Amino acid sequence: MQKSDKGHRPQLASVSSPLTFRHPVREDGQAVHDLIDSCEALDDNSLYCNFLQCTHFASTCMLAELDGEIVGWVSAYRPPEEPEALFVWQVAVAEAARGRRLARRLIANLLTSESCEGVERLKTTITPDNTSSWRMFEGVADEFDAKITDKVWLCGDEHFAGDHDSEHMLTIAPIDASATETDDMPEQTAQAA
Ligand SMILES: CC(C)(COP(=O)(O)OP(=O)(O)OC[C@H]1O[C@@H](n2cnc3c(N)ncnc32)[C@H](O)[C@@H]1OP(=O)(O)O)[C@@H](O)C(=O)NCCC(=O)NCCS
Repeated sequence: MQKSDKGHRPQLASVSSPLTFRHPVREDGQAVHDLIDSCEALDDNSLYCNFLQCTHFASTCMLAELDGEIVGWVSAYRPPEEPEALFVWQVAVAEAARGRRLARRLIANLLTSESCEGVERLKTTITPDNTSSWRMFEGVADEFDAKITDKVWLCGDEHFAGDHDSEHMLTIAPIDASATETDDMPEQTAQAA
């Protein structure tokens, strides 16, 4: 979920070192919190929430590291009543690392990880003005040869009393991650502490 009307334009990539992808561990909580905090477009969550994501939800979250620093993050979970879906909660890429398709690589790595076996569709919510996010999820759909449908899920007036833009629920389907190859999958899945 995002703050309303504050999307900003990714900058050209200024990094060339290799990226590594892995599931988070408890010790990542503060750095993940700081990365999200640096993204103007994103709603802040409590630090405690980010620790829960890095522990209880670690197997369906993923981060990207560059020279030991966390530069990309995706939080997600399989809704208990819809386990064949992966719901993506937030995606955050550090400004210096944007524009090199890191966000969609994070999602592809997550979808091809063991914890996403059996996932048939990806869901997420986006505000209408977050152009880079729409483009990024359109790119994910292209990569999986899937289609996107969307409908208003949280209405600005009805659910946010006019204080926030409507959140559109996107569904990207079908997802067949078993047919996808990623060259940067983590060799080991970190366990939640
Ligand atoms: C959205 C975000 C995660 C994308 O990260 P990224 O690694 O740069 O994403 P990608 O490179 O995979 O894709 C971004 C796409 O948006 C396009 N784009 C970026 N800014 C744009 C703009 N202002 N107008 C039009 N297109 C734009 C890029 O060209 C790219 O599309 P392309 O690959 O077809 O050329 C990153 O910008 C970010 O962290 N933003 C702040 C937090 C946020 O809004 N998160 C998403 C909501 S949860």
